[in-house]
Amino acid sequence: MRGIDLFRLDGRVALVTGGSRGLGRSIAEGLASAGADVVLCSRKPEEAAAAAREIAASTGRKALGLGCDVTREEDVTALVERTFAGMGRIDILVNNAGINIRGPIEELSAADFRQVLETNAVGPWLASRAVLPVLRAAGWGRIINVASVLSAIALPNRSPYAASKGAVAMLTKVLALECAPQGITVNAICPGPFLTEMNAGIKDSPDTTRSVVGGTALGRWGELHEIQGAAIYLASPASSYVTGSLLFVDGGWTAR
Ligand SMILES: NC(=O)c1ccc[n+]([C@@H]2O[C@H](COP(=O)([O-])OP(=O)(O)OC[C@H]3O[C@@H](n4cnc5c(N)ncnc54)[C@H](OP(=O)(O)O)[C@@H]3O)[C@@H](O)[C@H]2O)c1
Repeated sequence: MRGIDLFRLDGRVALVTGGSRGLGRSIAEGLASAGADVVLCSRKPEEAAAAAREIAASTGRKALGLGCDVTREEDVTALVERTFAGMGRIDILVNNAGINIRGPIEELSAADFRQVLETNAVGPWLASRAVLPVLRAAGWGRIINVASVLSAIALPNRSPYAASKGAVAMLTKVLALECAPQGITVNAICPGPFLTEMNAGIKDSPDTTRSVVGGTALGRWGELHEIQGAAIYLASPASSYVTGSLLFVDGGWTAR
């Protein structure tokens, strides 16, 4: 395979956590448009199912939406079992589900910190552990973690989120080393600011415009489709010699 065909995902099955909306949904749609069948999940099964129906309709691929809370080990186990049962294989895992709880450290509870860490860091750890036996048996696989620009740089009032995304960056590198012998690559996409539900509450504040959007070299929010190229690349044979890397899709924020 050479050239543009390296980006095709025909015959592959991708599991995208948190694929009911936002970046995860866009990633699932992008992978399906490249030929993959997709399974996506969220804590709300009906929203996951609705997103899957729309992706199937717009791409012509098989798509399945399932309920799963990635912080719950038994949910994650069932998600992987149902994905395998429904699609017959799993080739690509996108650990995308995530939350953010913002505020100065003195105004946050330990429960806030734990909840963000459980979702953003423990969730990808659980899902990777559950999917890896399937990928190892096949001798090929892709794990893509959706980390953040805050895996590498700090902003005030983001202690739970930045700590969780720093953990995801290192999880990516450790798993890349553990999985390389079996032909499995593990990489992370580090998005800059995208206008999703996660940012709905802060999008109009002058502080956000200055410190978040103003942090990017391009001086604007990312558009949801702008995450798809990185996801297709890291999921496909095009990235076969890339593992343990962090791919920043951040409008040039980290170029500063
Ligand atoms: N938007 C940005 O600017 C930005 C920047 C950098 C990184 N990111 C990362 O990109 C990823 C997607 O974020 P987004 O902006 O698209 O947020 P979003 O629009 O709020 O979507 C989050 C998705 O994750 C799901 N989710 C949340 N907690 C979950 C859990 N415990 N189990 C299963 N699913 C769960 C949500 O569905 P339910 O609520 O129904 O469960 C939803 O599908 C996150 O990892 C986020 O940290 C986003």
